[in-house]
Amino acid sequence: MNKALGLRRLEEEMAEDRSLSLREANLVFGEGDPDASTMLIGEAPGYYEDRERRPFVGRAGKLLDKLIEESGHRRAEFYITNILKRRPPNNRDPFPQELETYGPYLERQINIISPKVIAALGRYAMDYFLPNGKISRDQGKIFWWKDILLIPLYHPAAALRRADLVNDILSGLRQVSYLTREYDSLLKKRGEDNKADAQRKTREQPKLFT
Ligand code: URA
Repeated sequence: MNKALGLRRLEEEMAEDRSLSLREANLVFGEGDPDASTMLIGEAPGYYEDRERRPFVGRAGKLLDKLIEESGHRRAEFYITNILKRRPPNNRDPFPQELETYGPYLERQINIISPKVIAALGRYAMDYFLPNGKISRDQGKIFWWKDILLIPLYHPAAALRRADLVNDILSGLRQVSYLTREYDSLLKKRGEDNKADAQRKTREQPKLFT
């Protein structure tokens, strides 16, 4: 099945899933290139996203668009979505139960797109991948999540309140080209490092003296 069709089926399944909460709001499934090598993942749709059924189209989205351009990318080359695919009332923070029920859909969406890089925008998105992460400490750093390079970044809405965060987001987005370009060699290096680690551990194992 091609990726666009896989995504369409998943969206239909979500639309019909009555066990999901927040069903009074519109489903904002995500948009962009199904073959994208990079996904941008935010927290949840806000007022304008709910109205237009598109992710990141409000004020935070406008800033994100500007930073995407400045970093030398185009919005259309990414696949953009959120963990929660419906707007929580008054943009309140997501509840744990909502993250738990929407999370598996995000994971299936990621599996279909199969990106090389994920930029997790903000604390909630980062938390999904790195439950022990801390956004002020970990933003801009590179992690492996399964076979995907993960870069947590500040949420653009945070940068609307604190202009000093803009440059951090920008340099994170600039790293994305490097990460996608070098993905194969980084993956190979990780494999070699893991093998060397395993060999070291085996050597360090105390031998049973019989
Ligand atoms: N904030 C998000 O996390 N996602 C959006 O789509 C819009 C604002």
